[in-house]
Amino acid sequence: MSVFPKGFLWGGAIAANQAEGAWQADGKGPSISDVTPHGLGGEIDKKPIPGKYYPNHEAIDFYHRYQGDLQYMQEMGFNCFRTSIAWSRIFPNGEEAEPNEAGLKYYDDLFATIHKLGMEPVVTISHYETPLALHDKYGGWTDRHMIDLYEKYCRVLFKRYGNIVHYWMTFNEMNNTHTIPFAAAAIDVTGDVDHKTQQMYQAEHNMYVANAKAVRLAKQLMPDAHMGIMLSLSQAAVYPATPAPKDVFGAMQLQRRTFISADVQLRGEYPGYAKRIFKEHHFELEMGPDDLQLIHDNPSEYLGFSYYRSSTYADGTPIYGDTGGVVGRPNPYLKSTDWGWQIDPLGLRWICNLVQDRYNCPMFIVENGLGMKDKVEADGSIHDPERADYLKQHVQAIGEAIKDGCNIMGYTWWGPIDIVSAGTGQMSKRYGFVYVDRDDEGHGSLARSKKDSFETYKQIIASNGECVFEQGK
Ligand code: BG6
Repeated sequence: MSVFPKGFLWGGAIAANQAEGAWQADGKGPSISDVTPHGLGGEIDKKPIPGKYYPNHEAIDFYHRYQGDLQYMQEMGFNCFRTSIAWSRIFPNGEEAEPNEAGLKYYDDLFATIHKLGMEPVVTISHYETPLALHDKYGGWTDRHMIDLYEKYCRVLFKRYGNIVHYWMTFNEMNNTHTIPFAAAAIDVTGDVDHKTQQMYQAEHNMYVANAKAVRLAKQLMPDAHMGIMLSLSQAAVYPATPAPKDVFGAMQLQRRTFISADVQLRGEYPGYAKRIFKEHHFELEMGPDDLQLIHDNPSEYLGFSYYRSSTYADGTPIYGDTGGVVGRPNPYLKSTDWGWQIDPLGLRWICNLVQDRYNCPMFIVENGLGMKDKVEADGSIHDPERADYLKQHVQAIGEAIKDGCNIMGYTWWGPIDIVSAGTGQMSKRYGFVYVDRDDEGHGSLARSKKDSFETYKQIIASNGECVFEQGK
């Protein structure tokens, strides 16, 4: 009997802002990703500066080339494909009375193509691409106006795509509000630690309410849809750096900064430890009278998550973060990527087991991948055994987690085609099985070509994951 269940979802994931380009096409308004010349971890301009290079503005031009790109995905055997809807294609300023028909039409065609090629679309409603106008006017998710605007956006999406899209996630990596707040919550945190902490938890609270409203709306408009949350669980894959009790306890507290989002949205209530966090930072959350009931009555069904790496926590060592999770003291037992991300497939199995034990709900690994430099040989071939190894080791870890009893719905590799890095804006940080000829300055023909790892993933999917175990025997 095969380890991976029949109907397991195999595919890849991208985000609109990192792939589509066409940043002003067909009435699209600017999003928060359109003002970051070096990714969401770098400088942020107030508005796009004419003549300045912004990698997301053209990205890989998926907007005009998705037909061909999706054929590569079909050839690898994908039965699902995850992407996001760019909110500012639908509501360019976030609060127009009527949605932008041209933007809606684009996603009609995109989802129809995904289906025609034998894949289920898996859709993130908000993936680091809040309309810039909402950041400018309201300061992002610390303001409750965002809740109604998001609900209005969801209503349009569910009515329009409810028949064709069955897998949804409300917010990409909401817990990254604590490491990249502009990306995850469209906020600029200011002031002392207490004030910053308050802003981040307040933004998350407002997103919890928006998530609950989206779940409630989905029940009315598309009862068969699967509604998930999406978190970065690299943020939770934190080991104590030593057996010192302060390291062990501190690692657990860092995990809770992530698990709070799942505790609230999957279990339907704030955990006890939240009160202590708020008290120690001297604030109370602003809540509407019905917020807690709404959250309680509308939990999400599954936990989608990204996992790239693990990290360590040592008491007293400053903790930073980026798109891949938290950065603590280097773990001497693990190798690192060119970008310093520590490779840890067993950490993925560990995280799956933690999720199973804590929530006992379906989980969907919607991002995992290796960002590295690729070399194009004179004959055009690209040999990337490191990427193929990373893939095999992580698929094997998922298989082991399934054998442990974890309820895993699917796996989507991050960036099956090279796209712009969210954290750095680089093209040279490549995740793809399909290469895109474009460099960090925006030069290149945008031509696509297969890397060696393309075949590896194709074989894995064709064998429903079995070949990774055979090779290990
Ligand atoms: C996740 C994001 O945090 O990490 C993606 O959801 C992002 O948008 C991915 O691309 C990898 O990060 P980076 O910075 O290497 O692109």
